[in-house]
Amino acid sequence: MKSAIITSLGLLGFATALPATEVERTLPAGWEYKIASLRGPGCPDFGADPEKAFATRLTYGQNTMDGSEIYYWFIAYPHLHVDLADNDSSWCETEISYEEYSNYADKTPSADYRLRLHKNGTRAIATYDLEKGVKATIKFEYDAGKGEEYTDVINWNGPAASGQYQQESSSAVAKDELYKLPKCGAGKIKFRTELSIEGKKGQKGFVASETHEFTKGKVEYYGIQQGFSYDWEKCKK
Ligand SMILES: *[C@@H]1O[C@H](CO)[C@@H](O)[C@H](O)[C@H]1NC(C)=O
Ligand SMILES: *[C@@H]1O[C@H](CO)[C@@H](O)[C@H](O)[C@H]1NC(C)=O
Repeated sequence: MKSAIITSLGLLGFATALPATEVERTLPAGWEYKIASLRGPGCPDFGADPEKAFATRLTYGQNTMDGSEIYYWFIAYPHLHVDLADNDSSWCETEISYEEYSNYADKTPSADYRLRLHKNGTRAIATYDLEKGVKATIKFEYDAGKGEEYTDVINWNGPAASGQYQQESSSAVAKDELYKLPKCGAGKIKFRTELSIEGKKGQKGFVASETHEFTKGKVEYYGIQQGFSYDWEKCKK
């Protein structure tokens, strides 16, 4: 499956449509995500400058280019991690604002496409090391409005270890659970991300992310990444 990776600049995640391929694609000329609000112990750093230290931020986008139209955008949560020896649960509630553009260069807003979320479940990129019998779970609850919720879950069951480098895991995909923004064009996306770990007394286990020591003695987490999936439908004029 052909795919493209688009990198982004921290708080902003934006993209422009890629050159036409031989298959028909359904996507606006440009779009942009921004973190609108953060709440919870897993993301106490709303507004922090991602240039100064790893902050809760948008990292990159990814999409298929073969007509299957599966898109992802990733968010990193440096403060979201659990360890049986320390905190066994943490969470973050994230609100993302979404813009659609008919021309990315001058950011002309448009409403020709309707964003559809939960196309292909949710991905997590993390490091982990769990002893036998230890279980960890990350749950993603998408608030679709009008009391509707869509939940994706990823479980790690010990013994399991990522090794030094982060590994990608995917939730199950429920094909009939696509949900649309209420309108074509711009909108808001809300979800709660909850990470927890359980084990018996004395057992060892953690779920976290890679770390870097930019300043001696000060370890920073890169951030567990959540990839939410989406696509679009064309709106009738
Ligand atoms: C553990 O979690 C609580 C709230 O869930 C938070 O206030 C505290 O800072 C956390 N401790 C650590 C060491 O992360
Ligand atoms: C869609 O999800 C499935 C199940 O997790 C995964 O195997 C597949 O790679 C995903 N597709 C894309 C394009 O990421």
